[in-house]
Amino acid sequence: MTWFKDYLSRTDDRLLMKWTHYFDVYEREFTRFRASPISFLEIGVFKGGSIPMWKSYFHNDARLTFLDIDPDCARHADPGTTVEIGKQADPETLARLAATHGPFDLILDDGSHVNAHQIASFNALWPHIAEGGLYVVEDCHTSYWPGFGGGYRNEASFIEFAKRKLDAMHSWYTDQDDLFPFDPIAEQLHSVRFYDSITVFEKRKSQPPTAVTSQNGNVQLSRRALEIRGRKSAFAGKDGT
Ligand SMILES: C[S@@+](CC[C@H](N)C(=O)[O-])C[C@H]1O[C@@H](n2cnc3c(N)ncnc32)[C@H](O)[C@@H]1O
Repeated sequence: MTWFKDYLSRTDDRLLMKWTHYFDVYEREFTRFRASPISFLEIGVFKGGSIPMWKSYFHNDARLTFLDIDPDCARHADPGTTVEIGKQADPETLARLAATHGPFDLILDDGSHVNAHQIASFNALWPHIAEGGLYVVEDCHTSYWPGFGGGYRNEASFIEFAKRKLDAMHSWYTDQDDLFPFDPIAEQLHSVRFYDSITVFEKRKSQPPTAVTSQNGNVQLSRRALEIRGRKSAFAGKDGT
C-alpha cells in the first residue's frame, strides 16, 4: 500500500479530488522532497482536501501555499499553511505569490485546467522554481478537450506547449538554426516527463552537452559536435542500407 492510498482512509470532512493513477506519479516524483523543509505551491483548493494531505506528506517545516480564485477557499487553510486568493493566469497575482512565498521547490497546478491558464501560470512561475525543483501540471487530458481550449493537436493546448518545451530542451543540437534556434531554457530544463494526464518539468542548470570517448583509459571530452551543421550519420549503411 503506498502512502497516498493509505492516506485515503485518513481524510477529514474536506473533500479530496484526485485520480487514482496520480498517486504512483506522486511517489515517483515527490518522495525525494519529503525529507527537507521545501516550499510547495498547489494551484486549486476546491473543498480543501489536498491541504491536510500535503501537510501530512511533506516535512513538518515545509512551507505550503495554496492558490484559488474562490475566496471561500481561505477557510480551508490549516495552521502552518497559507491559502492565497487570486486568478492563476493573472500576472500580478502570480508575481505577488512568487515574491511572498517563492522560490518554490515544487509547484502543482490543479487549478482551472483551462489550457491558456496552465500556460500562463507556467510562464509566470517557471522562473520562480528553485534549482532542482519541479513544475507539475495535472489533468493534462483537458488538452484534448475543446471546451477547455484544447483539442487534438491544437497548438494552443498545454500538451502541445509542453511538446514545444521538449523541443526547446533539445535546441542545443539544432541543425536548422533558422527554423529551430537555440532556446536558453535548454540551460535550465533538465527534463520533461509525460505521464497520463500529468506533465513534469524539472529545473536543473546544465552546461552544453559534452560527448565523451574513452580508449585505454584515455578520456576525451568534446563539444565540437554542437558546432557542426549538415550532420550525417557516421554509422549509417553498416547494415547495407
Ligand atoms: C480540481 S479543483 C482543486 C482540487 C484540489 N486541489 C484537490 O486536490 O482536492 C480546482 C480548483 O481550481 C479553482 N480555480 C478555477 N479557476 C481558477 C483560476 N483561474 N485561478 C485559480 N484557481 C482557479 C477552482 O475554484 C477549484 O477550487
